[in-house]
Amino acid sequence: MTTKSPTHNRWSSNFSFVLAATAAAVGLGNIWKFPYIMGENGGGAFVLVYLIFIFLIGVPVLMAEVLIGRRGRASPGYAVRKLAKESKVNSAWQVTGWLGMFAGFMILSFYAVIAGWALSYMVKAAQGTFFTGISEAEIGNVFGSMVSNANELVLFTTIMIAGTVFVVGKGFKSGLERAVTFLMPMLLLLLILIAVYAAKIGDFGTAAQFIFKPDFANLSSQGILIALGHSFFTLSLASGVMIIYGAYVPRETSIVRTSIWIAIADTIVAVIAGLAIFPIVFGFGLQPGEGPGLIFQTLPIAFSAMPAPSLVATVFFLMLVLAAFTSAISMIEATVAFIEEKFKTSRWTAAIVSGALLWTVSLGTVFSMSGAAWAQIDWVIFGKELPTIFSAIDHIASNILLPIGGLLAALFTGWIMKKHYTQDELNTSPLAYFIWQVCVRYLAPVAIIIIFLQLLGLI
Ligand code: PFF
Ligand code: NA
Repeated sequence: MTTKSPTHNRWSSNFSFVLAATAAAVGLGNIWKFPYIMGENGGGAFVLVYLIFIFLIGVPVLMAEVLIGRRGRASPGYAVRKLAKESKVNSAWQVTGWLGMFAGFMILSFYAVIAGWALSYMVKAAQGTFFTGISEAEIGNVFGSMVSNANELVLFTTIMIAGTVFVVGKGFKSGLERAVTFLMPMLLLLLILIAVYAAKIGDFGTAAQFIFKPDFANLSSQGILIALGHSFFTLSLASGVMIIYGAYVPRETSIVRTSIWIAIADTIVAVIAGLAIFPIVFGFGLQPGEGPGLIFQTLPIAFSAMPAPSLVATVFFLMLVLAAFTSAISMIEATVAFIEEKFKTSRWTAAIVSGALLWTVSLGTVFSMSGAAWAQIDWVIFGKELPTIFSAIDHIASNILLPIGGLLAALFTGWIMKKHYTQDELNTSPLAYFIWQVCVRYLAPVAIIIIFLQLLGLI
């Protein structure tokens, strides 16, 4: 059997690439994480700083990764290896791609579990768990008993991973591209519906003020660093995602224009998510700074006080499942393409092998949450306590591998690749190219080194 290289695939249009990359970018980061970190860091001023980071650092690094993917036309490790060879530099630079693929895989191992929470909540909501008049303590118990129940976590994580394997295994056009073409518009529709409903039923004025009115007194230096870290996370940078999606970008597509659109779309969704959540939070007298439990513990309190709790909660968690699912697909794609290339397998085989590996690693997170003794490791890295396997994977991947990967991608395209190759890929005006160069050569590396040292507690 002859297998064509997976990277012969191409997005059907510029729009289809922007849609798929936006579906990859829009996920738990926008709907679960962004609202609560905004809530914890004082709202408007945080949003403003975040926007600056997105456009000065996130977008240039996004362009760098799409460029690497399109020019390398291979899974991340092989793509960077090819480009290092083309520019006649040390092939050790390929670590940029391998690290990204590994980070994406490790992030997916816990992302799939949290996506499983969303699915479990959707089922609970549909069954009427958040009925009118349920007490706050009972809602707290719903969350507590879910995360301590390993069987439940394994069940819902398995469903999410199986869905991912199914879509990716079906193929590029009829699986991945088709899935995002359906799911992304559905996600947007549900999100807008919820935001409109929230504006009607909740306190839109207070929420809008909270999100848009900058109050710098509430923004700490820690908050600024969180904004920078999140600008990487939310755009799926340094995780192999944008390199592999870049590998499918047609030659005529403008990387500069599509990257800007992807960032704008991701940002708009994050803001709409804020506009869907905070009017409810304020309208029902709840606190915006509740942390990671904001949508799993705080929001259900408001749902249970609404006229049709089951319906509203089901729609909300369905929306969250869709957002997480289209990101999960993107995170497994690099590994699947790599297995296809390396072992010349079919896409189905590659998807099933990746899924089985992923499922095995995800058990580390499941049993960290449920409290199994073997998952409690009590590591300490650079003074940071990592009590469980989950906290170790999250910290090492999100806070160490992502910044290093982003730094390497910026340095590789800014300093290492020959200028005429990057010019050829970006194919833009001299001014735009100059601005991009300043960002990837200086701004991004300096900013990343600062967050990195800070997160490690070294400054
Ligand atoms: N960007 C996605 C989100 O905001 O949820 C998910 C994600 C993918 C985060 C890849 C991090 C990552 F490395
Ligand atoms: Na995102």
